[in-house]
Amino acid sequence: MKIAIIGSTGQLGTDLVKTLQNEYQVIGFTHQDIEVTDYNSCLILKEHNPDIIINTAAFHKTDQCEEEPMKTFSVNAIGARNVAVISKEIEAIAMFISTDYIFDGSKNEPYAEDDVPNPISTYGISKIAGELYTKQNPKHYVIRVAGLFGIAGASGKGGNFIETMITKAEKNEAIRVVNDMWTSLTYTKDAASTIKKIIELKLPFGTYHATNQGYCTWFQFANEIFRLTGLNPTLTPIKTHQLQLKAKRPKFSALVSAKLPKYGIQMRKWEEALHDYLIKKGHIHTNQPGA
Ligand SMILES: NC(=O)c1ccc[n+]([C@@H]2O[C@H](COP(=O)([O-])OP(=O)(O)OC[C@H]3O[C@@H](n4cnc5c(N)ncnc54)[C@H](OP(=O)(O)O)[C@@H]3O)[C@@H](O)[C@H]2O)c1
Repeated sequence: MKIAIIGSTGQLGTDLVKTLQNEYQVIGFTHQDIEVTDYNSCLILKEHNPDIIINTAAFHKTDQCEEEPMKTFSVNAIGARNVAVISKEIEAIAMFISTDYIFDGSKNEPYAEDDVPNPISTYGISKIAGELYTKQNPKHYVIRVAGLFGIAGASGKGGNFIETMITKAEKNEAIRVVNDMWTSLTYTKDAASTIKKIIELKLPFGTYHATNQGYCTWFQFANEIFRLTGLNPTLTPIKTHQLQLKAKRPKFSALVSAKLPKYGIQMRKWEEALHDYLIKKGHIHTNQPGA
């Protein structure tokens, strides 16, 4: 089986390539290889004739999305449309990576796959448009993740929430983190393994939530990072409104999968995934207290 991965050097893309390449023929496309907003650029996919096209490319700087709605829609919605059209033509499966931000956060308990989306930001609206375009190819998977962290870091440049927290702590900066916004977290290595299982088991086409189990506030996440690493910065919980962010964010956007456990697929708890990440990244050692 041949699998094309768009955004192959991104945070999730890197782990998808690593996880899938041992058993499948993987063709990675970087941003230099493909511009998803440009249909003609996407035609290169046809030349390779893959069985599955996984599209991880996104413009996901949530606040910047409010200022650049055209760019946001070009990448997240039109990009998904281009992939859907081309994959349908070559009878390939289209897989789109989506987000918890397609929900409004008013449910106050974890969202399952069948809950009704109601995005409250430009980013969220563009991603639901991307989901809908993807569904134009009947052979589709929409995989929703939340709070991604992976070894490669965002855009493959090493950065993510964990690294930001550790860097600030090492510089002895006082840290303020929101404690009124609940999210699920997703280790990209675990999301990639789940995606591999979905492909291997040929699960029915449709939408799946693929996050680590459990949820927390960003403040609680920061606390756990510092507990495990033994760092001890001044960490203060704050309210979201104090940050005066451009984009509205759901207050409670934890995800749960009502579907994957039926196929024996269960992702580990976010605390265990974080622990594994910190070891792999060299922030802690297995014999360290707290580890
Ligand atoms: N990060 C999160 O916390 C989070 C949460 C929920 C859902 N998601 C979703 O998860 C997916 C993967 O996120 P990620 O953190 O792995 O993202 P990432 O690290 O930013 O990777 C995205 C990749 O796509 C490439 N790309 C961006 N724009 C492109 C375009 N117009 N055409 C072709 N390639 C393009 C990027 O290349 P360049 O960097 O060179 O532009 C990068 O390699 C995204 O769909 C995102 O919406 C992310």
